Amino acid sequence: MPPQPRSCLLMSGGRLREPIRFLVFSASLRRDSLNTKLADLAATAVEANGGDVTVARMRDFDCPSYDLDVQNEEGFPPGAEEFRRQLEACHGFVVASPEYNASMPGALKNAIDWASRFQPQPFNERHGLMMSASPSMSGRQPRTVGAAGAVRAPRGHPEPALDRVE
Ligand SMILES: Cc1cc2nc3c(=O)[nH]c(=O)nc-3n(C[C@H](O)[C@H](O)[C@H](O)COP(=O)(O)O)c2cc1C
Repeated sequence: MPPQPRSCLLMSGGRLREPIRFLVFSASLRRDSLNTKLADLAATAVEANGGDVTVARMRDFDCPSYDLDVQNEEGFPPGAEEFRRQLEACHGFVVASPEYNASMPGALKNAIDWASRFQPQPFNERHGLMMSASPSMSGRQPRTVGAAGAVRAPRGHPEPALDRVE
């Protein structure tokens, strides 16, 4: 079920507006993931600032490796359908992703590849924030987040951000 908007926010000048809806998820599958903690912090910050949040987990979007033959013969896997549904229900999305070998984890890239094949593209016109938590010094470099190009390609609007967790 799509997230239900909370009551309207009162803006300056007395205008009312619907809260902005965010999809927030961690791209780590690990139980004690730093990035899941970072995603939870981001969700708390969005809510504290009047946004509506749907927290998802990477497993919700799990897909077999992208294969055009599978797409043509069997259609989209449930994980890709769920990713599209969640993207379409939000105004913007926040991803906290580990950096694996100077890029994003394969599971995230694969989910983006599948979701980018839907028409209309679910990333269209949605703003995204990509964050990365890493215990390593090199994690400070904007590399995972450079992989935000994978979201930019299907016409999303990613804003890179880095956050180092000691
Ligand atoms: C396959 C693999 C590749 C990694 N590559 C990098 C890397 O390129 N840069 C980095 O800062 N950390 C790298 N790490 C360390 C991860 O940043 C660290 O394990 C982090 O805690 C993973 O995120 P998580 O805690 O959310 O699961 C790598 C870890 C793994 C398992």
